[in-house]
Amino acid sequence: MRYAMKIAVVSVAHGFTWPVALPAVLGQRVFHSERAFDFSAKLLSLMPGRLGQYLRASFYMLTLDECHYDLAVGFGSFFAHPTARVGRGVGIGCFSIIGSAELADGVMVGSRASILSGKYHHGGGNRHRDVRENPLLLETVRIGEATWIAEGALVMANVGAHCIVAAGSVVTKAIPDGATAVGNPARCVHYGERTEAAVV
Ligand SMILES: CC(C)(COP(=O)(O)OP(=O)(O)OC[C@H]1O[C@@H](n2cnc3c(N)ncnc32)[C@H](O)[C@@H]1OP(=O)(O)O)[C@@H](O)C(=O)NCCC(=O)NCCS
Repeated sequence: MRYAMKIAVVSVAHGFTWPVALPAVLGQRVFHSERAFDFSAKLLSLMPGRLGQYLRASFYMLTLDECHYDLAVGFGSFFAHPTARVGRGVGIGCFSIIGSAELADGVMVGSRASILSGKYHHGGGNRHRDVRENPLLLETVRIGEATWIAEGALVMANVGAHCIVAAGSVVTKAIPDGATAVGNPARCVHYGERTEAAVV
């Protein structure tokens, strides 16, 4: 029922977002440029309240490679690339940036968190002296089902399902399913899926 409501509201929002979504889609598909997407994603990130949430959900439904009606993106947060894929029931807090990522069903991202497009965005193997001349190297970072990326975390490697990435942690290597990863660089302190009994 709640999902049906969201479909209805976000479908209405499509009426307002298509003028900014259309240039973003055309820019990406026809001109291979993300400029229009970037402009509109950042513009819509500044709309506060529920209205902002619905407009952002609508925009990303129309532009991302995969997205669902129940996406909730907080104030100041945006996706940096239209190649991101988002499962059902994904929530993102305020002032977070999501790069070229795949977020599975039920992923929660706290505020001021970043999911980067891998480790080598501005320089992989062949590095020039001038960093601006390095070819962009976007990798897809995958976050597994029902994982919680807590406040202020920086994630540049895959994280499994049912994990917690602790507040302020920096994930540089893949984290296995069910782990709690803490610190910089993130180390796993607990393993095994969380159960209600374990979270008291
Ligand atoms: C990770 C968290 C959930 C606690 O998980 P936990 O399994 O109960 O972990 P513990 O408290 O038992 O701590 C285990 C170890 O991790 C360390 N640790 C916990 N959180 C940490 C963090 N954010 N950064 C660095 N180390 C951390 C502890 O100091 C402890 O280290 P030790 O074993 O060397 O003593 C919690 O610390 C956290 O980060 N919560 C996020 C809160 C948040 O972001 N809220 C905003 C809403 S999105």
